[in-house]
Amino acid sequence: MKIKLTDIAKTFPSKNGTLTALEEINLEISEGEFVCLVGPSGCGKSTLLNIIAGFDRPDEGSLVTNGRPANGARTSCVMIFQEPALFPWLTARKNVEFGLKMAGMPKKERTERALAYLKMVHLSRFVNSNIHELSGGMKQRVALARALALNPDVLLMDEPFAALDAQTRDMLHEELTEIWSKTKKTILFVTHNVREAVHLGDRVLVLSARPGRIKSEFKIDLVRPRDPANPDVGRITSLIMKELKEEVEKIAKEEFDSDWAASKATILHSADHSMGSGI
Ligand SMILES: Nc1ncnc2c1ncn2[C@@H]1O[C@H](COP(=O)(O)OP(=O)(O)OP(=O)(O)O)[C@@H](O)[C@H]1O
Ligand SMILES: [Mg+2]
Repeated sequence: MKIKLTDIAKTFPSKNGTLTALEEINLEISEGEFVCLVGPSGCGKSTLLNIIAGFDRPDEGSLVTNGRPANGARTSCVMIFQEPALFPWLTARKNVEFGLKMAGMPKKERTERALAYLKMVHLSRFVNSNIHELSGGMKQRVALARALALNPDVLLMDEPFAALDAQTRDMLHEELTEIWSKTKKTILFVTHNVREAVHLGDRVLVLSARPGRIKSEFKIDLVRPRDPANPDVGRITSLIMKELKEEVEKIAKEEFDSDWAASKATILHSADHSMGSGI
């Protein structure tokens, strides 16, 4: 699905009046494009996904999907979060089937479909396992299968791999790349990890510190599968990290006030770590 956002702005009420979360967001995402979004904490990344999903409404601006104004919740978008919100008392298969059952799909068909998508995420051996028996990475793969089974046009992924260890994350990167090239879904993927963004995306957008605006964008014209050791990957990653670091510093200065000088070393160290670790 093609998405076009024009002059989107979003404010929230806050203790000190209003907080502008997003301002002048202009963005076009092509059908089948894989776009990654990075930005400092609180810059409005999740808010932007919520607006695209139809969970939240912008105060200003317009959102057009496939050439039509988008109103209300959009069934053609599915959101995947850091914590896979699965039903712990159901098996992997029943979790994937759940949404299909709600949509009124007959039993035989939904079972077949659930099994096919669990196969796609390489979980065929675990279809009858209970969720609590699965590792974090496996749970996230069930969540991915559940989302894909609904056959959405767009996958909105909000830091989906942030809670996983580096090796599991690597595996899921390969899996997601493979699934994306098979299904040609449009993906908008939020991450704090710049290397992850460069590894996965056709394009990486950097959002500025509050209010969130699109500060810069980088086209990633590198063939897949991408080799993290490729010097081009390193070069683009450094460029994006530099842009992002400026925004992280702005937030840190605001939030840490007079303690800023003392905290600076620690903040930048941890920002470096989370921006690039684990790939
Ligand atoms: N429902 C709400 N009511 C009031 N303020 C909100 C609400 N939702 C978000 N905000 C504020 O809007 C700003 C953007 O929030 P958002 O969750 O979109 O940021 P984010 O970029 O996803 O951050 P993070 O990287 O920490 O997930 C933040 O300052 C947040 O406190
Ligand atoms: Mg968020």
